[in-house]
Amino acid sequence: MSAALQGKQILLGITGGIASYKSAILARRLIDAGADVRVVMTQGAQAFITPLTFQALTGNPVHTDLLDSAAEAAMGHIELARWADYVLIAPATANVMARLANGFADDLLTTLCLANEAPLTIAPAMNRLMWSNPATQANLATLVSRGTTVIGPGVGEQACGEVGEGRMSEPEAIRDALAAAIAAAPASNELQGKSFVITAGPTIEAIDPVRFISNRSSGKMGFALATAAQQMGADVTLVAGPVALDTPPQVKRIDVKTADDMLDTTLNAVKNADVFIAVAAVADYKVAKFSSEKIKKTDDELTLELVRNPDILKTVAALKNRPYCVGFAAETQNLEKNAQGKLKKKKLDMIAANQVGQANNPVFGSDTNSLSVYWGKNKQQIAPAAKLDVARQLLTLIAKQIN
Ligand code: PMT
Repeated sequence: MSAALQGKQILLGITGGIASYKSAILARRLIDAGADVRVVMTQGAQAFITPLTFQALTGNPVHTDLLDSAAEAAMGHIELARWADYVLIAPATANVMARLANGFADDLLTTLCLANEAPLTIAPAMNRLMWSNPATQANLATLVSRGTTVIGPGVGEQACGEVGEGRMSEPEAIRDALAAAIAAAPASNELQGKSFVITAGPTIEAIDPVRFISNRSSGKMGFALATAAQQMGADVTLVAGPVALDTPPQVKRIDVKTADDMLDTTLNAVKNADVFIAVAAVADYKVAKFSSEKIKKTDDELTLELVRNPDILKTVAALKNRPYCVGFAAETQNLEKNAQGKLKKKKLDMIAANQVGQANNPVFGSDTNSLSVYWGKNKQQIAPAAKLDVARQLLTLIAKQIN
């Protein structure tokens, strides 16, 4: 078990779902790992499990009301917010996710989350249809984009009798994922003074004025790396293909469209860089000849001649004064073999491989990822987590190599 939870002050929020019975075990596991745990329960949670259970388990009074003068006298809600090093909500219902995403402060738990700068982690639990509902997914995306760590949910049999995604992760898995996120959090400025160039998103290669070749990259992984690197003290230039994402604070962003643009911009940006991370899904091919007029659909078949695009990462890795070069490998099969092949062929320092295209997590476009990272004779797994957490863990590995 990681020592990351030792001495940490964790505010455990419990909301109204049947999975709240597992939160009692979670509280125990956090305490076993050395954490000081204080519990806040919503009204809904109290319909499933009593505050007394958590008071007995944690040895601390349980907080339930925003306007409770007795509780305020013991520890006011602002004081409680200040006390927390980390806030963990498990289970997090669809309702609390919606209220958090919209900044509500209509009970003690949501008020504490607003009045708090501590990192927020949620372990969602709900019926599979509620989880897959676009409203919940939009709220999830909002929370993730603000840096919330999301653990689970898992897939399996649900309390309602249905089978699917929405089960709260097991207490031990939540404890371990929280510990991993804390261990990877930018406690120190590990990348202070380092200059990073990161490519992100797809490139688009025009066929004619209305059509193009591209891929499903959303840019989320590359933007998460840019966000995390900046938070860890690095000076970050983000070379972004066409994506619909906000620029991370204090990151220099340069927008490009094609692989050729991305190559030119990157070569210029890496001149004084310490680290180059190629996260972009660069279109491997472009049309041999762009048609300035819209191509007419006169025949049943149309053949386009495609030519290879430049390999940006390979070009940077071949520079005389090159930065530390990290590639990504998007694989649907033979993850390790293919990633190791790219590490050697492109002469990289490190490669992070992700298994893409799976039904439960295509990685392209999704908010979570997991990585198998290879460098030299070493390898390390980064467990499934929000892309920002995965990014922090990868950067911690990179920091160890370059410092
Ligand atoms: O953007 P998201 O929706 O968050 O999805 C993230 C991701 C799946 C795009 C990302 O995690 C990822 O795997 N990026 C690399 C995708 C890719 O193109 O992999 P590849 O195995 O084809 O390329 C290997 C490496 O060479 C990559 O670092 C790539 O950026 C680089 N490359 C590839 C071709 C090329 N012409 N130039 C390059 O620089």
